[in-house]
Amino acid sequence: MKFRLGTEVRKMEIPWSSGNSSVAARPWIHDIDIVTTNSLTTTGGHVWDAAQRLVEFLENMQLGLGLLRPGVKVLELGAGCGLSGLTVARNLPLADRVVLTEQAYGGALDHLVMNVELNRDKLPSSCAVTAQPCDWTHYQPTSPTEGDLNSATESEDGVSGGEQEGNQGELADCLRLETLPETISWDFIIGSDLVYNEAGTKMLPRVMRAHVDTHTRIIYAHTRHRFDSLDCVFLEELAAVGLECREVREHDVPTPPPSPPPFTDLFPEMRIAVYEIMLPR
Ligand SMILES: C[S@@+](CC[C@H](N)C(=O)[O-])C[C@H]1O[C@@H](n2cnc3c(N)ncnc32)[C@H](O)[C@@H]1O
Repeated sequence: MKFRLGTEVRKMEIPWSSGNSSVAARPWIHDIDIVTTNSLTTTGGHVWDAAQRLVEFLENMQLGLGLLRPGVKVLELGAGCGLSGLTVARNLPLADRVVLTEQAYGGALDHLVMNVELNRDKLPSSCAVTAQPCDWTHYQPTSPTEGDLNSATESEDGVSGGEQEGNQGELADCLRLETLPETISWDFIIGSDLVYNEAGTKMLPRVMRAHVDTHTRIIYAHTRHRFDSLDCVFLEELAAVGLECREVREHDVPTPPPSPPPFTDLFPEMRIAVYEIMLPR
């Protein structure tokens, strides 16, 4: 796998590969070329550690999850540079489609489109791989007490889009364009490191709820304890929209040491958890 920042190309081994291949049907190919950037006003210009853990989990569990079934449809939310979705698409030639989504705001979608096209020749032609707009602000709670549009769109420094002067027109233009059809029955919805502000805590659960089907498996890799309070709100909001959430891991991966309960440690150790989120079954 290669990450490229500007003109610099860095070839990386697969540091997250833990060798838990007993459940893998075959090793995945990790040759996706990713350009990172500091020029976006969102956090999507970097590849976050949780994206790498998500890829690891999906590869290790490809059989158990049913990822290899012909015709599967995969949706990625907040794809950032696109590492996870592109690696999935690269290795699932029997998939029907893999749709990577981002917000247009801050140049995030354009950057994602560029990374998708950069890898086009490696992607199976049998599977439709696209980058599409999906801004979670479309899914905000409708109650005025639950949040408002202007506090939803994020920037790199965590300042909400609406709080930045002069971007109201840009924000409105983005929202008009950023819709995702709710008629597609997704087999998998994937995402990584998406919860760190209002949009992630309040709106992301509603995005998931809008696109989940009775059989859909949402696999979300999340860095715990980066923002304990936001983690708690996210889990509460998932429950509030009727979604169940449980931490999952590969069969042969030891149970991690228990995390301290939220707010008990001043600097709790962060670790990446993989959650499966779904409708009650
Ligand atoms: C921390 S980055 C993670 C990117 C990628 N998933 C990864 O793990 O490398 C969070 C991503 O969520 C996206 N995001 C934040 N707010 C959003 C919103 N309102 N609608 C859609 N995407 C949003 C950002 O643009 C960014 O790409």
